Amino acid sequence: MTPLGRSLPQIHTPLPGPKTSALVDALARSESPAFTTRRARRAEQSGAPQDPIVWAEAVGSNVVDADGNVFVDLSGGFGVAAVGHRHPAVVAAIQSQAERLLHALGDLHPSDVKIRLLERLAALAPQPEARVVLSLSGSDALTTAIKSAALHTGRPGVLAFEGGYHGLDHGPLAACGYSEGFRTPFAGQLNPHVRFTAYGDVEAARTAMDDTVGAILVEPIQGRGGCRVPPVGYLAALQALAEERGAVLIVDEVLTGLYRTGVPFACMDPVDPLPRPPDLLCVGKALGGGMPISACIGSLAVMASWGDPGAMAIHTGTFFGHPLGSAAALASLQVLEDEALGARALAMEARLRERLAPLTVRGRGLLLGVVPDQPVLPLVRRLLERGFLAIPAGMHAEIIQLVPPLTIDESLLDSFVDTLREVMA
Ligand SMILES: Cc1ncc(COP(=O)(O)O)c(C=O)c1O
Repeated sequence: MTPLGRSLPQIHTPLPGPKTSALVDALARSESPAFTTRRARRAEQSGAPQDPIVWAEAVGSNVVDADGNVFVDLSGGFGVAAVGHRHPAVVAAIQSQAERLLHALGDLHPSDVKIRLLERLAALAPQPEARVVLSLSGSDALTTAIKSAALHTGRPGVLAFEGGYHGLDHGPLAACGYSEGFRTPFAGQLNPHVRFTAYGDVEAARTAMDDTVGAILVEPIQGRGGCRVPPVGYLAALQALAEERGAVLIVDEVLTGLYRTGVPFACMDPVDPLPRPPDLLCVGKALGGGMPISACIGSLAVMASWGDPGAMAIHTGTFFGHPLGSAAALASLQVLEDEALGARALAMEARLRERLAPLTVRGRGLLLGVVPDQPVLPLVRRLLERGFLAIPAGMHAEIIQLVPPLTIDESLLDSFVDTLREVMA
């Protein structure tokens, strides 16, 4: 029998199974009611049930729910599990770190492992003499970048893009072009100097720039916004525009970064590279191999603008650069390189594209969006019922997003394609 991690789906109960149902009831009684309401609303809109599965175990490309049903994880846990769930090298690094040091004093008296990770990220970074600020979430890394840009340019404005997603803490939320609905309830608390423009259109960006804008904030491929790849030369044109106007370019690689699109950083992809490294680059998700850790990587010139803030750490967090996350990140970076997972992402992309034809497929590497010619939410549910866990994405939930572990077996992808064809019929 195929070991768990590389197993085809095994669904033994209707979804949700009895144990999962009891847990989902407990969830409805204990979680913020908004989540349950959202599921009910989505079920109404899509005509398909939206009960969650409850994860009990995950390894490699498999997730096991509370009833023992085995799923193939095409969501990669929101793109986190690039090396697969619970990679042995990541688990070993966490275990050995846990036996030595669980917590240190962040930027005051840091841990040895945090310093090793900073060095490793600075060496991987495209900027010569890069400087790195660690944090916990993608949103945190974007916050660091947006603050760094404001300090460097003295301008509070951000040029952001329709369809862009950068996390929901107040800084990045203000620049969330994915949906106005995310911003509206908090509009009074958000940076009023954010300008939105159409993704992929250089002239529109040029028109939207004004004197308050100190940063252009862009995803090299819009992930949640629908796996949208901009036209060739677009990022380079934004970089030139930023330089011309004395603004900085922030590239959000929280989802694309660390080999998901075949290369360490999508913005430096030889297929369509930036002529110069970006001023600021954010990574998260895959970095910790399952642990919450993120980083904002900046050029020395921009990072030096934090200057001498009166001997105060004006940007820090109790758990930033946490030893367990740092150890996991070092292990996960090693696995990504040792197992040549960038090359694997590209090989799997080619295989999927060939098999999915003539369906439209957007994206690059293992950040792909399949565009079916029918509503996505019911399809995603039918896939789940057959043991394939994928999530909808796009501003109108128009794609099935595929962000699986880069280690995923070919046979699982082939079986997904067959199952997709069945559920579409
Ligand atoms: C491109 C991008 N940036 C930022 C974020 C926010 O990351 P987090 O949810 O860890 O705050 C996400 C999350 O999906 C993302 O896809």
